[in-house]
Amino acid sequence: MDGRTPVVTRKLNSGQVLDIYKVGIRPLLFTGLKTDPEWLHQQTIRVLGWLERTGDRPPAKWVQAQLQQSFCLRDARLSQKLWGAYFPNPVGLAAGFDKDGVAALLWSSLGFGFAELGTVTLHAQPGNPRPRLFRLPQDLAALNRMGFNNSGAAAMAARLTDTVKTATRPIPIGINLGKSKVTPLDEAAADYLGSFRVLKDWGDYFVVNVSSPNTPGLRSLQDTAGLTLILEALQQENQGQKPIFVKIAPDLEWEALADILSVTITHKLAGIIATNTTIRRDGLKTQFLAPTGIARGSAQLLDIHKEAGGISGAPLRDRSTEVIRFIWKQTHGQLPIIGVGGIFTAEDAWEKITAGASLVQVYTGWIYEGPLMVRRILEGLLQKLEERGLASISEAVGREELAPSP
Ligand SMILES: Cc1cc2nc3c(=O)[nH]c(=O)nc-3n(C[C@H](O)[C@H](O)[C@H](O)COP(=O)(O)O)c2cc1C
Repeated sequence: MDGRTPVVTRKLNSGQVLDIYKVGIRPLLFTGLKTDPEWLHQQTIRVLGWLERTGDRPPAKWVQAQLQQSFCLRDARLSQKLWGAYFPNPVGLAAGFDKDGVAALLWSSLGFGFAELGTVTLHAQPGNPRPRLFRLPQDLAALNRMGFNNSGAAAMAARLTDTVKTATRPIPIGINLGKSKVTPLDEAAADYLGSFRVLKDWGDYFVVNVSSPNTPGLRSLQDTAGLTLILEALQQENQGQKPIFVKIAPDLEWEALADILSVTITHKLAGIIATNTTIRRDGLKTQFLAPTGIARGSAQLLDIHKEAGGISGAPLRDRSTEVIRFIWKQTHGQLPIIGVGGIFTAEDAWEKITAGASLVQVYTGWIYEGPLMVRRILEGLLQKLEERGLASISEAVGREELAPSP
């Protein structure tokens, strides 16, 4: 990662490219074959991991070059220097997709401006029983209760030693830390600290995830007392070397959120990631969950109101933007925000940026829209900058008056 001036590599506009994913692959996988979403995710990660491991040899090298040509857009107006790191564009991969860091360096070839690995926990753990990931196509959403399935901090560190450490990082890499399920809540600080120590050298920034709904009691660590203990421990070890963020839930009351902001500022955090998935179910068109590939045949329909887990995607969009706006106003724009929740289009990203997000992340939108989504968003953001006469994306952060289209 360096501060070099980015080159413009815009060849075809993404609107001119036939979106094979949306017209062919997605309908086949989601509707035709009714593939189990977790199986599909595993296959995707497997292929990306192979590309990452063999990227310096043909044919993976050739594939990577093709990916870059199709999915990347470089333009200096989209770049920012934040916390000492160079972000070539403001659209990142959200936590949860690459939980073990198997494709850490590859995400830049898919157009992302940064990637957050994890959630990783100190102890390897299998996560919750399957099925634990469901698509809600009518709502352009997903429900997941994965429960931090991952191979543990030491395994991630070993993997990153072979890849990230030895290579020049094309984009900043974040590492999202969670609490191991076996660790009692009152020992959470030591658990986060253990992971941080093991992984400190490999992340450009770190995230304290206290907002997943899928680890019992985890969100109670958003309380001032619990959060203070964790942040004290991490910052003492950190000594100002790495930017540390807290990732929050969208379901907090304003008062609780204001308390988190105070703790965050007291402990000199780099910023807030808003938001994780929601436990709310209101407003969903989906009432019953379609059986997954695994449950196919034997399964009866599952009532969405009774199924545990967090909702991501379009239903989360407005609430997460509201949370971003609240943080921006409450802190007078002094606390940087990474905005995440329901981003599918440039319009969605722009809404979050003008509400106060310096950077944004995507997960569910990428599943539905496919790999061209990032480039489409970047092209749309550039168009918005041009329409409004702005020289760079950082000029739009927190500028609510710029939100509506002119
Ligand atoms: C299948 C799945 C797994 C996720 N796992 C994690 C995780 O391990 N850690 C985390 O902080 N967030 C996790 N998330 C939440 C996302 O990072 C993001 O905050 C949320 O999905 C909202 O963004 P989206 O609407 O673009 O998906 C997960 C989301 C999904 C859909």
